[in-house]
Amino acid sequence: MATAVPMATRIPVRISVNGTEYAAEVEPRLLLVHFLRDNLGLTGTHVGCDTSQCGACVVYLDGRSVKSCTVLTVQADGGEVQTIEGLAKNGAYDPVQQGFWEMHGLQCGYCTPGMIMSAHSLLRRNPNPTEEEIRHALEGNLCRCTGYQNIVKAIQYAANQMGGTTGAGTSDSQPIGG
Ligand code: FES
Ligand code: FES
Repeated sequence: MATAVPMATRIPVRISVNGTEYAAEVEPRLLLVHFLRDNLGLTGTHVGCDTSQCGACVVYLDGRSVKSCTVLTVQADGGEVQTIEGLAKNGAYDPVQQGFWEMHGLQCGYCTPGMIMSAHSLLRRNPNPTEEEIRHALEGNLCRCTGYQNIVKAIQYAANQMGGTTGAGTSDSQPIGG
């Protein structure tokens, strides 16, 4: 029979975030996104819905992009997390960040960290995505401002910077996000 865990029980965790090791004691129910924002002050990871719909909270966990509102902090124990704050290196934007800057891939910016993390994950898996593949990869990320077109251009820009040629224009435009 399972043993009930009292609400006040705190569980020790050790998590590497953007290359820095953190030790903490957290409630079992604490979501990873709240650990990042509230415990570590890494507020670049946003909370848009808390129900796995919007993608504003996407981070890497052990190299895989995850929606951090659907991960308990204790599930990340012993793991490596990378957030939007960890993308720039030596003061230089990552190509995906640069693409959003160059191609005006944002307006209010609320969706942007999650969009960039999901786009980064796509380009690691597929350095030369077609427009259709870009739109498909961002289905789990919602944007209420841009209409998505400049987000797609930003990712095509990044792919070009990273050495891919992108299949820009090789497929019909399709709405993403839903
Ligand atoms: Fe995680 Fe919306 S806050 S998907
Ligand atoms: Fe405002 Fe995407 S830029 S939600």
